[in-house]
Amino acid sequence: MTEDLHQLAAEAEATLHAAKDSAALEAWRVRYFGRKGVLSDVMARLSTISREERPAYGKAANEFRQTLDAAFAARQEVLRQAELAEALAAEGVDVTLPGRPVSLGRMHPSHRTLREIYAIFAEMGFQVYDAPDVETDENNFQLLNMPPGHPARDMWDTFYTTTPGVILRTHTSPGQIRVMRQYCPEPIRVILPGMCYRYEQVTARSEMMFHQVEALAVGHNITMADLKGVVISFARKMYGEGRKVRFRCSHFPFTEPSAEVDMDCIICGGQGCRVCKYTGWLEIMGCGMVHPVVLRNGGYDPDVYSGFAFGMGVERPAMLKYRINDIRYFFANDARFLEQFV
Ligand code: DAH
Repeated sequence: MTEDLHQLAAEAEATLHAAKDSAALEAWRVRYFGRKGVLSDVMARLSTISREERPAYGKAANEFRQTLDAAFAARQEVLRQAELAEALAAEGVDVTLPGRPVSLGRMHPSHRTLREIYAIFAEMGFQVYDAPDVETDENNFQLLNMPPGHPARDMWDTFYTTTPGVILRTHTSPGQIRVMRQYCPEPIRVILPGMCYRYEQVTARSEMMFHQVEALAVGHNITMADLKGVVISFARKMYGEGRKVRFRCSHFPFTEPSAEVDMDCIICGGQGCRVCKYTGWLEIMGCGMVHPVVLRNGGYDPDVYSGFAFGMGVERPAMLKYRINDIRYFFANDARFLEQFV
């Protein structure tokens, strides 16, 4: 009887060894450990055996069970390891694959130009003041000496919001009112950069949105000579030391007197070309002495204080500098354009 069990154990171990995957292992488990399996047969036989033989058989049956248990556990572990190794090999990371390149952001050409402008004005003691893009009609027009119906408003086609009296600013000049009201009666030297919006036909030369930089200085004894000095220094630092700069009489409701500033064309050096429309000059900004009404609207007594202001575009000079022939590229968000500015 006990020899039979040795024989059975040897068979069980042989078939177990032949089980090559978890399905075969499970079939083996059912065959040997199942309710109607070999082990339960072996145990059931105990009651049919004579009293004398029973202890020896019982001991052998127990050993049989232990042998099977141990063999099963060992085989199960071997198969588990093999399956794990196989899965790892199949799903493994191939470290020899080249990585995906990270696409690096670049400085937008408008912002590069803005930063150059900030640096030049910082040297002259001007701080940057941030004013909002969404403005009141009052700041954008009325307090700048353009009451409702003023003909000068025609220069600024405007986006209106659904809230009466609230618009998108058409220029950075309304920031002048904000700065003055915040700092009065302190002296002021600020630049006000930011986006402006005009309800205009979009072409290669004009966009509905663009950047401007405004400058404002208010204090005692500020004269047109200060304005000219600052503007000429700025133009030479920004566009080259030898630049010629000229002031042409002009009109803005918020300055008196007012002027427009031209410099010799940086493309042709003043000879005349397509870019300067064969005049030899490029217009770079509007400027003037802050109008007494505007000073008063900012809280400053025009009999005691005076000031100058100017405003310039940012994209136009960037177009000249980087030879960009269409302003629409700036806000089209096309990476092929933006990637070119390293
Ligand atoms: N705000 C004017 C415009 O957008 C530009 C300008 C002209 C600003 C004269 C000024 C100034 O501060 O004094 O056309």
